[in-house]
Amino acid sequence: MGKALEGVRILDLSHVQAGPTCTQLLAWFGADVIKVEKPGEGDITRGQLRDVPGADSLYFTMLNHNKRSITLDAKNPKGKEVLTALIKSSDVLVENFGPGVLDRMGFSWEKIQAINPAIIVASIKGFGPGPYEDCKVYENVAQCTGGAASTTGFDDGPPLVTGAQIGDSGSGLHLALGIVTALYQRTVTGKGQKVSVAMQDGVLNLCRVKLRDQQRLGKGALKEYPQFAEGRPFGEAVPRAGNASGGGQPGWILKCKGYETDPNAYIYFITQAPVWDKICKVIGKPEWIEDPGFATAEARLDKLRMIFDTIEAWTKTKTKFEVMDICNPLNIPCGPILSMKELADEPSLRATGTVVEVDHPTRGKYLTVGNPIKLSESPTEVARSPLLGEHTDEILAEVLGLDDNAISELREAGALEPPRRQAAE
Ligand code: COA
Repeated sequence: MGKALEGVRILDLSHVQAGPTCTQLLAWFGADVIKVEKPGEGDITRGQLRDVPGADSLYFTMLNHNKRSITLDAKNPKGKEVLTALIKSSDVLVENFGPGVLDRMGFSWEKIQAINPAIIVASIKGFGPGPYEDCKVYENVAQCTGGAASTTGFDDGPPLVTGAQIGDSGSGLHLALGIVTALYQRTVTGKGQKVSVAMQDGVLNLCRVKLRDQQRLGKGALKEYPQFAEGRPFGEAVPRAGNASGGGQPGWILKCKGYETDPNAYIYFITQAPVWDKICKVIGKPEWIEDPGFATAEARLDKLRMIFDTIEAWTKTKTKFEVMDICNPLNIPCGPILSMKELADEPSLRATGTVVEVDHPTRGKYLTVGNPIKLSESPTEVARSPLLGEHTDEILAEVLGLDDNAISELREAGALEPPRRQAAE
């Protein structure tokens, strides 16, 4: 059996993180992803945060596996002809240019549809239609405008952004789902369609439970939020909840043995109601099992701070892994705060292909995150990212059927740039 998306060709005009995350996923599922890049420069991330002089950055390599790269000047008349031919022979066009860029290139939705009515055009923008539709947007702007920042952090501190790239990679995930859905619908209708994801919308979707709480706030205090137990009044908007769990089972991050020197010696501990008796026994408070002030989840809400302080007095005597080893057999949900170093070294993540070592001709070996979505009949093999323009000639010959003379003419017309072939290969 081949790969799930074998035979699907993606014309990938995307750049930076949001679009490339999406097309990398599609490539991992077997699509032929042709990354179109500006001659000479390519995706700006190739040179950003460079750690090896002259080599593509980890920023680029970790977002562009399993793709082919063609350099093409989309503003050059001959380059436009090539782009038109590529649109004709592709199933999906993906882009996350700034607002209006594709139109300025001369490839409006109407024009693209006229070229290929079956093509799916998938776009990420910062905002949907409305007052900010013309704005350029990066990750943290999306986190701030989508509700994540106002609800992250502690209620007595400033808004915080999170390290998880929910604006960029989150939008890429949303877009990938939109694309495969449109491809599925096309099997019935035979027609393409536009797939649009606004980063603000994607972040808000991931902050769904906070809009839930906004509406609950209208009915009274949010009793599971720390400021309720700590006696601070609520305002009009959902406050930042610190490390409180987003669901109905209270949780908090607690110190473990070694926290004084190890910034990650912490554990997330959930006081799940069905195992309350086990928690009481394990932390040495068996009297809380029957005590009416502690026996029910409702009765505990105004004492959560004190309860977590008491649990922490116990977790501080154990390492985060010892706490896990004791609590897991008792079905007490908890999780150690794992550093990136610990994750990189974790053998089980290597075994499942979630952390993968990749070899690259100019930068050598590096670690990346593999495909987190596992299909039993379509396993992912992570292949290194392409060098800039590495497949220009190959794509022009194989996809468009151009011969060497035609390719030379394009080069002379300034539509391409000679591919920078890697000497080591
Ligand atoms: N040939 C010729 N020109 C090309 C080209 C090619 N192959 N590929 C890109 N370009 C040009 C475009 O035509 C455009 O030029 P123009 O402004 O003269 O029309 C330019 O390169 C790209 O513009 P833009 O996408 O606005 O890039 P930027 O670096 O100024 O802004 C973003 C970057 C990410 C802020 C912006 O693209 C954006 O807001 N994207 C949508 C939201 C998004 O995805 N954000 C997250 C990114 S991780």
